[in-house]
Amino acid sequence: MTGSWWREAVLYQVYPRSFADGNGDGIGDLRGLIDRLEYLEWLGIDGIWLNPIHPSPDVDWGYDVSDYLSVHPDLGALEDVDRLVHEAAERGIRVLLDLVPNHTSIRHPWFREHPEYYVWADRVPNNWRAVFGGPAWELDSASGRYYLHNFAPEQPDLDWWSPEVRSEFDRILRFWFDRGVAGFRIDVAHALVKDRELRDDLPATEEDHPHTRAEGIRRVNSMNRPETHEILREWRVLADAYAPPRVLLGEAYVLDVPAWARYYGTGSDELDLAFNFALVHSQLEAEQLRAVVAETEASLPEGAWTCWIGSNHDAGRLATRWCAGDETLARCALLMLLTLRGTPCLYHGDELGLTDGEVPPERVLDVAEPSRDPCRTPMPWTRDGGWTEPWLPLADTTHNVEDQRSDGDSTLSLVRDLIAARRRLPDLSHGAYEEVPTPPGAWAWRRGGGVVVALNLGERRVEIEPVIGTIMLSTDRNRDGEPVAGRLSLDPAQGVVVECS
Ligand code: GLC
Ligand code: CA
Repeated sequence: MTGSWWREAVLYQVYPRSFADGNGDGIGDLRGLIDRLEYLEWLGIDGIWLNPIHPSPDVDWGYDVSDYLSVHPDLGALEDVDRLVHEAAERGIRVLLDLVPNHTSIRHPWFREHPEYYVWADRVPNNWRAVFGGPAWELDSASGRYYLHNFAPEQPDLDWWSPEVRSEFDRILRFWFDRGVAGFRIDVAHALVKDRELRDDLPATEEDHPHTRAEGIRRVNSMNRPETHEILREWRVLADAYAPPRVLLGEAYVLDVPAWARYYGTGSDELDLAFNFALVHSQLEAEQLRAVVAETEASLPEGAWTCWIGSNHDAGRLATRWCAGDETLARCALLMLLTLRGTPCLYHGDELGLTDGEVPPERVLDVAEPSRDPCRTPMPWTRDGGWTEPWLPLADTTHNVEDQRSDGDSTLSLVRDLIAARRRLPDLSHGAYEEVPTPPGAWAWRRGGGVVVALNLGERRVEIEPVIGTIMLSTDRNRDGEPVAGRLSLDPAQGVVVECS
């Protein structure tokens, strides 16, 4: 549907424990987030996605939910969610929560009271591997049977063939939608239904994406089953019954772009948005990025809209992963994310050019190997961080909101200006994407009739032609306002948005 708010939106991921602490106990919380809504409005954010906020033993930091209908006491209470939704709305910001439907915590009462909600076998039935390593089956000593866990053993997988599981989740979705939550980011949206006969997964082959190949298996039966689409279609109907329709943003972690695009269904009957992980797994290199965007454009069904990210709480921060800490390159990456066709979603700290933090081994809290804690360190608000003894160590506080907010040349100011430009020039949010020929190392594209974006990710100065207009925004702010009449020259690690005349 054209006109849906999220097509024009810039989304922002908040990792609640690390965003802002409202009561000084070192753990970010909902009150802290509410206090920072002013900042998000100033930045121009339209919607926030919060990682899970529910009660959880925190083996996987909220992704092991023990009660889907309330709030983790570290983070606040139900009233705080209501206040957040209300106060965010007053600033034009919508709130998306994280839905974790693939598995619960082993401490969820369902695991003992409704064992039939989970996937069981009398003996290890197949070769399925857990994402966090080791076999995906664990012996439950109480019953003498094995249960499935695609992630940690403390995260038993639900059985999505069960109609009761489906109605429980319908209730969960409605509970939050009724409270004014604008939508859900859906955790492992590609994994819900398991092969009914529990057949083996396949060995990965040369044809698989390098990441899948490195894992050694192609998950065709433990994940990625076609039956999962049916669930997404049911949720779409449920979400569309609300006004405005609630958003389904999927973590469909599929790197084969055409297969990933199938999670949009026909383009309006499954996910509204899905994170584009093929881009995340590319290097910041013109040819690779261009290829992912071209394949995305070619694969999305009519009306479907992608969601661009460069960072999240799993993949690491873009300033480290893509740019090895080079802030000039990080500015190019941010300019790219905010000008491609689709909805960008920034991870808090991206707007500062923040890199991954350092977490000494004795402070690591993550269940996964290698630890994802470096990209989960607290948001630096001031030069001393603005935290008292945070749960994870503070990263580099030379990148902080206070300093960058008052500096017109900062990465934060660039991001804010890019977001404002999207509002001023509808072509930047809506316009069709069309490649512009460039020399090697560079990548340029036209958005609609009126805008050209060009990036030089190579090591040599390049000239792109013909472009006529004015540089509206540049990663090198000295070039803002520069007229372009014909050739556009770009230094290495430079990006520009040109308003064409
Ligand atoms: C998703 C989450 C990740 C979590 C996993 C299991 O990939 O983003 O943080 O560990 O699902 O729930
Ligand atoms: Ca707190």
